[in-house]
Amino acid sequence: MAMGDAHFSSGRRSRRVVVTVVVFFFFWGLISLSCAARLPISKQKFQVQKHLNRLNKPALKTIQSPDGDIIDCVHISQQPAFDHPFLKDHKIQMRPSYHPEGLYDVFENKVSTENNDGTNAITQLWHVNGRCPEDTIPIRRTKEEEVLRASSVKRYGKKQHRSFPQPRSADPDLINQSGHQHAIAYVEGDKYYGAKATLNVWEPKIQQPNEFSLSQIWILGGSFGEDLNSIEAGWQVSPDLYGDNNTRLFTYWTSDAYQTTGCYNLLCSGFVQINNEIAMGASIFPTSAYGSSQYDISLLVWKDQKEGNWWMQFGNEYVLGYWPAFLFSYLADSASMIEWGGEVVNSASDGQHTTTQMGSGHFPEEGFGKASYFRNILIVDGSNNLRAPKDVGTFTEQSNCYDVQIGNNGDWGNYFYYGGPGRNPNCP
Ligand SMILES: *[C@@H]1O[C@H](CO)[C@@H](O)[C@H](O)[C@H]1NC(C)=O
Ligand SMILES: *[C@@H]1O[C@H](CO)[C@@H](O)[C@H](O)[C@H]1NC(C)=O
Repeated sequence: MAMGDAHFSSGRRSRRVVVTVVVFFFFWGLISLSCAARLPISKQKFQVQKHLNRLNKPALKTIQSPDGDIIDCVHISQQPAFDHPFLKDHKIQMRPSYHPEGLYDVFENKVSTENNDGTNAITQLWHVNGRCPEDTIPIRRTKEEEVLRASSVKRYGKKQHRSFPQPRSADPDLINQSGHQHAIAYVEGDKYYGAKATLNVWEPKIQQPNEFSLSQIWILGGSFGEDLNSIEAGWQVSPDLYGDNNTRLFTYWTSDAYQTTGCYNLLCSGFVQINNEIAMGASIFPTSAYGSSQYDISLLVWKDQKEGNWWMQFGNEYVLGYWPAFLFSYLADSASMIEWGGEVVNSASDGQHTTTQMGSGHFPEEGFGKASYFRNILIVDGSNNLRAPKDVGTFTEQSNCYDVQIGNNGDWGNYFYYGGPGRNPNCP
């Protein structure tokens, strides 16, 4: 207004105003033309921004990780879970009513004390620059480019393909079609209330950014149709999801066979986190080296048979939180199958099998220090006891690319080596 008053104070100035106004409308016209042409992009940007605002909650403290991640310490009551309409009045459970018993202490850190001392030191990289205060949880901040890399805002944080880690397919061709390859051990035919394992951590090479390599536990319920329920936890390398080749702790859940429900980590509402030390999706450090130090992590997922929630524990001390029972149909009761092992995406981009590695990138035959392993694999039974699984089966689509070998001994209980290099003379 003040400027407008000045312009109108003399004739010469008012001519200048006319020129200014004409020039203004000319540029305004240009800008609106170009805006009209680009509307889809700005609309997408708007959607991305809206999604980022939903995901990235206000932080009480922010920690910059050396790997480029930003960890936000978000008040526990402001976490993404509470955006879920069913969790609006949820009373957060700060501890499970039941922790599985038996066998639990028997195997603790046998390998770390016997084979190397480093195993205990495994942690998350961002810890070197700080910790989150009490009553907050650490959340890995989602970057704009990460959402933009997804096929759509809606698909961000979800598995891109439906991948069925299904040992016995009615149609074997279907397994190979998705491009997903597995090397797993599994049990089925009973009611399971959880699973545990200790697995060594590697940094497998990924050939194409849209491929991934992961090692995890699957807790499965229902059929491998449209309604598969799955809770998954492990480590993964996924350039598309995280923008780098770092090995990261992750979880996943779905109640409709990876279609519309569920996501990785805290990228949708579902998982309720209570722990202020471990961030889902953050890098694990250090990782194992071929022929050298081996670092492993223990993962335990179990059902609180009183409240119904599925809990997750990382290592022996970090109870991370839980998936409320209402998220699931079959898993609201129990799991019908447990799987442990590796999965990669083979995009076969150049008509050949990918060179993306599973686990250490070496075959099981190479054994300790060289091959990747799951040891002390256990299930939780209906009496809330950790038990050795019976009748462990194995499955792999192409054992010349990625293989699995099970074994059993006193220290490691039920264990298996798994993984491989992908493309090689026997896997063209
Ligand atoms: C997957 O495809 C490969 C190569 O065509 C074949 O050797 C293998 O038997 C198939 N696996 C299954 C489970 O169908
Ligand atoms: C990830 O590794 C691949 C090779 O395996 C490399 O081409 C790519 O540049 C790496 N990406 C990043 C972000 O470091």
